[in-house]
Amino acid sequence: MIVTTGLEPNAATIAHAQRFASQYALPLVKRRDESLDQLRSKYAVDEIFVVSAKGVRLDLREEDAFFFHPNNAAFRIKRLERGDTDTMLSVCQIAPGDRVLDATLGLGADAIVFAYGVGESGRVLGIESQPVVAMLVADGLKTWQTNSPSLKQAMERVEVAAGHHLDVLRSLPDHSFDVVYFDPMFANTEQASTGIQGIRKYANYEPLTQEAVTEALRVAKRRVVLKEGKGSQAFQRLGFMPYRTNQHQVVYSYRDKIGGE
Ligand SMILES: C[S@@+](CC[C@H](N)C(=O)[O-])C[C@H]1O[C@@H](n2cnc3c(N)ncnc32)[C@H](O)[C@@H]1O
Repeated sequence: MIVTTGLEPNAATIAHAQRFASQYALPLVKRRDESLDQLRSKYAVDEIFVVSAKGVRLDLREEDAFFFHPNNAAFRIKRLERGDTDTMLSVCQIAPGDRVLDATLGLGADAIVFAYGVGESGRVLGIESQPVVAMLVADGLKTWQTNSPSLKQAMERVEVAAGHHLDVLRSLPDHSFDVVYFDPMFANTEQASTGIQGIRKYANYEPLTQEAVTEALRVAKRRVVLKEGKGSQAFQRLGFMPYRTNQHQVVYSYRDKIGGE
């Protein structure tokens, strides 16, 4: 993989590209007036991180580019600001000051909404096992431009850890987060918006394991929450309690810290 800029980058874009390349120890290549396909041939790569004023995108040969976008977090935060509720925050019983471990970060929309819910005194740590996804989301959370101060602040508060959640959970002390949240991939997970289609190519599709749930129950002080795609029955296999059934479809389920768990 290489990093380059769009055509005619300004100084801020060049600085952004330099930071990104040096953070991930990737070669930074001057774009000059070459096409991305010319750079692909010249450097014998398929995937090119292209930095522009809009942020970093992963340009793929003959496929849609993959880039960070706050996705549904923008309108969910808008609705919360109007006084509406958010089902995920309700299932997780989120209050200001809570510490949330999002064990399947993806592009971070849920983590951003958690960060809004827990506020400045809370903490949200997101774990993502796939390096490309973790790189794009870690950069995007810090650099995405928006007119919404609440969205901006929430994005900036999300911390990103690249790694498998089982390894990260094992390294954490008992009761060190109030809530641990899992939203694993499913073959039919809906990720239709432009840009985040790329997550289908790069995501980890491993099913959630009992071992990870056991570790999560040790790390969580209050509750472990599972979100699943419609039609998936992971909650039964893993002993979770449905939060609400909608036409017999479970989307959120949870396990509480009771009975010595
Ligand atoms: C459905 S997406 C999460 C979407 C996210 N909740 C959001 O709002 O954008 C699942 C993500 O979890 C990641 N993942 C799956 N298994 C993982 C694991 N064992 N450790 C860390 N990340 C994992 C996948 O690579 C994928 O990016």
